[in-house]
Amino acid sequence: MIRLAKKEDLGAINEIYNYEVAHSIYNVDTRPVTQEERLLWYENHPKNELPILVKEVKGETIAWASLSQWTTHGGYSKTAEVAIFVARNVHRQGLGKELLRNLIEKAETLEYKSLVSRIVAGNTPSIKLHQLFGFKYVGVMRRIACKLDQWVDVQIWQKDLFI
Ligand SMILES: CC(C)(COP(=O)(O)OP(=O)(O)OC[C@H]1O[C@@H](n2cnc3c(N)ncnc32)[C@H](O)[C@@H]1OP(=O)(O)O)[C@@H](O)C(=O)NCCC(=O)NCCS
Repeated sequence: MIRLAKKEDLGAINEIYNYEVAHSIYNVDTRPVTQEERLLWYENHPKNELPILVKEVKGETIAWASLSQWTTHGGYSKTAEVAIFVARNVHRQGLGKELLRNLIEKAETLEYKSLVSRIVAGNTPSIKLHQLFGFKYVGVMRRIACKLDQWVDVQIWQKDLFI
């Protein structure tokens, strides 16, 4: 089942996220997100503006996706940034597709006009997933971030929601 996130999901959301923080250069956070920070993030995602979706199976939250504010400048208010994270043990089972499909539907309902994703170059699963849903490559910021002692390029991908 795909549903809106509740406070009770924050532990699982953080666990899935922090695994990537610790082990992957495709996520450029350099320290784990604390429970307090995650709660603040949740409170800054009102469900009718910046929804967080989770995939629940047998009572367990195993993947999540969210829309976040792209920047605080007012002109960008119809743009949102996508995040999507699937627990490692259930990768490549279609959950990314299911979540992104639902997230795009939410974005359309909320009348967003543009979705943006920042993807570290080389993150093939994420790039393919975004391409499947019509995101287009915009450009690359070269060696813009350093993670696990490696400088990485970060690509911008965008989905146009203007009808
Ligand atoms: C990116 C991510 C969300 C994809 O989720 P997923 O549930 O594994 O993806 P799906 O099973 O729905 O696969 C969607 C498509 O992505 C591509 N894909 C997924 N895993 C892949 C892999 N290991 N290699 C190549 N392509 C892959 C395929 O095109 C796949 O479609 P297909 O199975 O019909 O060929 C997941 O790998 C993840 O959580 N990664 C870590 C966090 C992350 O990088 N998030 C994105 C930040 S921008």
